[in-house]
Amino acid sequence: MKRLIDKLATRRILEKEELLRLLSNCDQNSRSYLFAKARDVDERHFGNQIYIRGLIELTNYCKCDCLYCGIRRSNKKAERYRLTPDEVLKCCETGHKLGFRTFVLQGGEDSRFSDDSIVSLIESIKSAYPDSAITLSLGEKRKASYKRFFDAGADRYLLRHETADPIHYAKLHPNNQTLQNRMRCLYDLKSIGYQVGTGFMVGSPYQTLENLVSDLLFIQDFQPQMVGIGPFLPHRDTPLGHQTKGSMELTLTIIAILRLMIPNLLIPSTTALATIHPSGREQGILAGANVVMPNLTPTSVRKKYLLYDDKACTDQEAAEGLMALQGRLKAIGYRIVVSRGDFKPID
Ligand code: 5AD
Repeated sequence: MKRLIDKLATRRILEKEELLRLLSNCDQNSRSYLFAKARDVDERHFGNQIYIRGLIELTNYCKCDCLYCGIRRSNKKAERYRLTPDEVLKCCETGHKLGFRTFVLQGGEDSRFSDDSIVSLIESIKSAYPDSAITLSLGEKRKASYKRFFDAGADRYLLRHETADPIHYAKLHPNNQTLQNRMRCLYDLKSIGYQVGTGFMVGSPYQTLENLVSDLLFIQDFQPQMVGIGPFLPHRDTPLGHQTKGSMELTLTIIAILRLMIPNLLIPSTTALATIHPSGREQGILAGANVVMPNLTPTSVRKKYLLYDDKACTDQEAAEGLMALQGRLKAIGYRIVVSRGDFKPID
């Protein structure tokens, strides 16, 4: 295993079979070695800096029906909400005072948010906080819409590909949602000039290790600026609510592999990781993640943005808990910086 890990660290790429071997045979010893290598690379590129992004969950209305997701259209039990532009600006004001210089506008695919309304929201945030980056995470749109948002000032876009295998994709989504359109969106976003983030769930139902290798090879080929991954966590009011959750160890292993594959990649230690284990957030960072995304959504609606059961949304997940998070990161040798935290090419 060590030889394979060393090879990945120096060449940044492995053959399909080698990745499969790494994923299938990574025991605790090899994992410690892998994480240490990933931390080395992380430190070389980012020192001990952790970037923060303020997450604003705009709306939990969604026209999609992803079989795993708690805010899917068919979940009649979800209590729906959408924030007003004023509420969003208030979140940014709070966030900016706390030191956030990136705002992530995330939401379900809500038709009530017209392109015009999104453009005007981007313009208002940019004029109030010209020193801050705007990341959008609003799902699949037409290229023309992505272009309008970019021209209005959006800098980055997050859209997980979810799984790079079309057959697996079809098991997790209804027929009218295709991997092909997902990929079309990702390539459109990249060609427009966004810093693009993609990602997937680890341990999603029906996923095989071969699927995960395909995800890694897709990422190697696509070269995104950000990759968000977290364990699959069931939501009781979805068709996949009875499935078992993903593994934290495998999620951490993949974070470390990604760090070695793309040394300057922005990798969040996700809320799903923080949810699956009390120290998941820190363990993500110790496996090579370098971004955290505390929640700036108004507390009155925060509990309604429930993609999976028991989602962590208080304490260190919350922007109000930033000091506590800072303390916990300091304890493992890292510090939060006030910065847009843009992707930097390796020179
Ligand atoms: N468990 C873990 N992650 C989930 N997501 C959606 N539902 C779940 C779940 N049940 C992830 C998807 C989506 C992102 C916003 O959250 O990968 O892209």
